[in-house]
Amino acid sequence: MLLEITMSCTIIVGGFFGDEGKGKVVAHIANKDHPSIISRGGVGPNAGHTVKVGEKEYGVRMIPSGFIYNNARLCIGSGVLVDPRVFFQEVEVLGVRDRIFVDGRCSIIEEEHIARDKGDSYLAKTIGSTGSGCGPANVDRVMRIARQAKDVPELRDYLTDVSLDINTSLDSGDFVLLEGTQGFGISLYFGTYPFVTSKDTSASQIAADNGVGPTKIDEVITVFKAYPTRVGEGPFGTEMSREESHRLGIEEFGTVTHRERRIGVWDAGMAKYSAMVNGATQVAITGIDHVDPDCFGATSYDQLSKKAREFINSAENDIGVPVTLISTGPDITQIIDLRDEI
Ligand code: IMP
Ligand code: MG
Repeated sequence: MLLEITMSCTIIVGGFFGDEGKGKVVAHIANKDHPSIISRGGVGPNAGHTVKVGEKEYGVRMIPSGFIYNNARLCIGSGVLVDPRVFFQEVEVLGVRDRIFVDGRCSIIEEEHIARDKGDSYLAKTIGSTGSGCGPANVDRVMRIARQAKDVPELRDYLTDVSLDINTSLDSGDFVLLEGTQGFGISLYFGTYPFVTSKDTSASQIAADNGVGPTKIDEVITVFKAYPTRVGEGPFGTEMSREESHRLGIEEFGTVTHRERRIGVWDAGMAKYSAMVNGATQVAITGIDHVDPDCFGATSYDQLSKKAREFINSAENDIGVPVTLISTGPDITQIIDLRDEI
């Protein structure tokens, strides 16, 4: 497939139920393509992105997972819910105080939202929410009674107009990376309602969260796991039994909730539909080492086995969009980048 890649504004989103490895893909692209801004859309601190660099493993919930690229300005778009406790803790641990900015219009998660999320048996038990306060905080936002980031004195030094910053950067020809959170299957609009999160999670939402208009987006990279996972309740069409997934050597735990993730096999129909709604121009496939353990750590296409190549080819056929990135292990260096070759 021939494709001209400009990359001046790229969105990265999850194609299945979340935890596809977006964080790792963002980190790789950031290191390689040097964005001037990396900005987060998505719901809020219900997200957990794992980024592994050498011996260190980071689980980030508020700060963009592209933080490992030191030269980018890091932003949180106005659509995102900010929990100041989680925010300040991550700023401290990651040492990003000088380059992290929050839009003044972000809505704030109060302790009371967390108590409501955890204490509500429908949200906590039936839906299996992460208990991070996002649902109740979005309720108060819609009710127009929530606080905004600009009302929080401790956030004063971090405030900016993220939309203006990004659009100014794009106008001057810079590369900007917008990262989504959650996955397509738990979108409030397109997912398995009511077993969904409290907002849309598709690429259009990520653009809107950051105040970037649709005509400014050049590439949408949708990330799929070879073996999709789901945490929390709700339908999962291709789910396999625990015994089956353990037999395959797949065992995963949520970054935020530490709950064991449910594992399934590749869902061709969902992948195609998700790529359609997301307007995917490229696809990243993660966890190819679960398809064939021999591929663990591969950094070039030549190193992939026949079995892995067949999987990639059939996924590409299912989705109808080129697979440009293949993740072969948790470390940011364990990736095959085919973007220059198409
Ligand atoms: P909430 O977003 O905390 O209200 O949770 C609603 C549903 O979305 C639950 O099934 C959660 O497990 C799921 N969920 C929310 N955020 C994430 C995420 O970042 N990864 C995976 N699942 C998530
Ligand atoms: Mg996650």
